[in-house]
Amino acid sequence: MNQATPAASDAPAMLDEINDANGSSPEHTDFGGLVERAIPRRGFLGGTVAFGAAAFVMGASGLAPLSARAAARRIAFEPVAANTLDTVTVPPGYSWHVVARWGDPMWSDSVPFDQDTRGTGASQERAFGDNNDGMSLFNHGGRSVLAVNNEYVNRRIVYGGTGIGEPENADDVRKGKAGHGVSVVEIAQADGRWSIVVDSPFNRRITADTPMEITGPAAGHDLMKTAADPTGTSARGTWNNCGNGRTPWGTYLACEENFNGYFSSSDPDLEIGAELERYGIGRKDWGYAWAGVDERFDIARHPNEPNRAGYVVEIDPLNPDATPKKRTALGRFKHENAEVVLAGNGRIVVYMGDDERGEFLYRFVSDGVRAEGGDNGDLLETGTLSVARFADDGRGEWVELTPASTGMASRAEICIHTRQAASAVGATTMDRPEWVAAHPMKAEVYCCLTNNRNRGIKPNAGGDATPVGGPNPRAKNRYGQIVRWRPDGGDHLAGRFAWDLFVVAGNPLVHDDERAGSGNIDKGNMFNSPDGLAFDSNGMLWIQTDGKYSSTGDFDGQGNNQMLVGDPETGEIRRFLVGPRECEVTGITWSADRRTLFVGIQHPGEKGGSHFPDGGDTAPRSCVVAITRDDGGAIG
Ligand code: FEO
Ligand code: CA
Ligand code: CA
Repeated sequence: MNQATPAASDAPAMLDEINDANGSSPEHTDFGGLVERAIPRRGFLGGTVAFGAAAFVMGASGLAPLSARAAARRIAFEPVAANTLDTVTVPPGYSWHVVARWGDPMWSDSVPFDQDTRGTGASQERAFGDNNDGMSLFNHGGRSVLAVNNEYVNRRIVYGGTGIGEPENADDVRKGKAGHGVSVVEIAQADGRWSIVVDSPFNRRITADTPMEITGPAAGHDLMKTAADPTGTSARGTWNNCGNGRTPWGTYLACEENFNGYFSSSDPDLEIGAELERYGIGRKDWGYAWAGVDERFDIARHPNEPNRAGYVVEIDPLNPDATPKKRTALGRFKHENAEVVLAGNGRIVVYMGDDERGEFLYRFVSDGVRAEGGDNGDLLETGTLSVARFADDGRGEWVELTPASTGMASRAEICIHTRQAASAVGATTMDRPEWVAAHPMKAEVYCCLTNNRNRGIKPNAGGDATPVGGPNPRAKNRYGQIVRWRPDGGDHLAGRFAWDLFVVAGNPLVHDDERAGSGNIDKGNMFNSPDGLAFDSNGMLWIQTDGKYSSTGDFDGQGNNQMLVGDPETGEIRRFLVGPRECEVTGITWSADRRTLFVGIQHPGEKGGSHFPDGGDTAPRSCVVAITRDDGGAIG
């Protein structure tokens, strides 16, 4: 995500920059030491512990020609060159079109998008939300229902038509809250183009005001009780839904990420305790101004309200009347996505990253077992949450978070103060874990570690050190990497795993040290800040980026954010798509026949430099695009 800031609209727009603005230690550089440490690591990973062909991924091994031969079989498209165009670029033989944009009407009584006002609270409640992120397409009796997260709103765009680019009144806040959440829309294809089925009985807007049920260990706990909900079992709304997941029983998972940025204090002297600080909750919000209109977001008046956000929300995409459920058993942190795997014995395993510098990677294992054709509705209600500890020797383990291991009083508290629980067991601080994706044909799991310019320099907000090493091998990590692990015995329930790095991103145009990246990065496929991640049915890995798009300095030649395809068997990586200016490419799903690939284009023009997708001097609008092959073939 690129998240809006607490300050005025001319303040830095990136989350990295927010954190930096909050103060950082002086940076120091020890390139000699870094290189020295990195090279033996490459050699080690290239030896006994690497997985098969991964042996050459991390280093300049002699296996590269094999890589090229294998890739020729498995990645068939012609790579797209990096560019800074204000459009979507796909390989020759592929085409794209827009399916749904921020503000598009979902019902016939919706007000069409107004380029001048850019909508009202009422119109936004009946329209596709802003900043589409993770999404899943559900096939139901031949109909296609797309559930899409709307992570946040771009204030300078949403309020920037005839306004000043900031919320100014209660209706602006209503519009902002309605721009968040989830949009569920039926889509259909006519004359080769997909679009929203207006008035479909499946269409639904879930916003920051939609009633939610709180389930799992934290439900009913004192820390969950508020004036409006003395039982601690029902919350209102979901917001900042980033990545997503889908379950084998056909539900959609929306993951609450930077939920903290919406809370503020009416008391300027309110003391901020460690429990709030760990999650970045302070006296000021990030500019959304919700507390001024909805006192739930005022932590001086409702100190437990932040405990009711930061969860994974389970949604039935086919029943617009179903109440979404906050699944506290999956922990409370800045959830990126939720990758669901069915383990051999029928238990449900969910892998999840906590996207903040120095935070952790988690695994949930359900208590219950999936019953084919039975009622699986409560499988995410109870289970065991664990956190990853990586060792430098290519091995790792899942450490269970229990009252005994964490010193916490109850499972409920562990599910509320999950970060603190993970710190208590010495989890490995990671370089911002983003999406996790599990290989569809074997027990192998991948996670984007997007970047961490404070690696080796600053601890996380809990005070945990961030030493250089393990799957986080570079200090001041500007480019990111993708770690992968294989559970022992091919069993997702195993307590231990082997790991290596699938790719270390970098810029070989600018650097010739560890910042050039791993052996499978070259000037033709380089990128920074891997974020979105998904496997297709052929076992190819689709990588989406949310990084620096300046194409200058450290990022020279890398162009706009993009999407690439990686071959887990060979390490080959090839660029498939370049997004428009200032966008992030995030969200990926396929049509039932796999002839259409849907991709999310989030916040084009977030700094004023794009008019995508409509061109001219129109407002830039986040949107979902469909990509098809001109010969009608399957994509992935
Ligand atoms: Fe919303 Fe971590 O990206
Ligand atoms: Ca993301
Ligand atoms: Ca990101």
